[in-house]
Amino acid sequence: MKTIELRSDTFTRPTEAMRKAMYDAEVGDDVYGEDPTVNRLEAMTAELCGAEAALFVSSGTMGNLIPLILLGGRGNEVILHEQAHILHHEVGGIAAVAGTVPIAAAGERGILKPETVAGHIKENAYDIAHTSLIAIENTHNFEGGTCWKPDDLAALSAYARSKNLPVHMDGARCFNACASTGMSLGEVFSHVDSANLCLSKGLGAPVG
Ligand SMILES: Cc1ncc(COP(=O)(O)O)c(C=O)c1O
Repeated sequence: MKTIELRSDTFTRPTEAMRKAMYDAEVGDDVYGEDPTVNRLEAMTAELCGAEAALFVSSGTMGNLIPLILLGGRGNEVILHEQAHILHHEVGGIAAVAGTVPIAAAGERGILKPETVAGHIKENAYDIAHTSLIAIENTHNFEGGTCWKPDDLAALSAYARSKNLPVHMDGARCFNACASTGMSLGEVFSHVDSANLCLSKGLGAPVG
């Protein structure tokens, strides 16, 4: 009897073909940029997303932490949805590792509207932890797997740009969002400044 595991899409396992590809993969030292397989994966991903560059890291949590550190910055505020994975399920790294202050905003089914975000923005002043980043999640895990619709994404992105604020997207399941909305990865990524993608959720890879 075949059992289908429905507790999480993270239970998916590599297929025989994937295991063979891993076994046969050319390897090298990635610190020196000399792992041909990692280089190919990063180049393919950047091209698919229309991004300047892509970086292979071992977890979605790491893929979220890097932009929190680089675009958020210690002592600054990051606006994100009140049910964001980054806020509740990444062992507090947003504060403990990135040193940023999470500001939880409400939003129906995980979607942040410009008017809601606007109420949380703090401008720079000498004694204020000012807003440095807006973080969204697509699909939104704890709001029922909601996909960001093109209009909502465009509205938030236009607003963020009008305020000179970068947007990070936790795109752990962005492939699913694209399949549902018909948007291409490039189109989704054109609205954000950084994003992660997970190959370990629903796609069978053990990490990444
Ligand atoms: C929306 C979302 N972001 C990030 C992560 C973190 O990914 P990882 O477990 O690979 O660190 C998860 C994990 O389930 C997730 O659901």
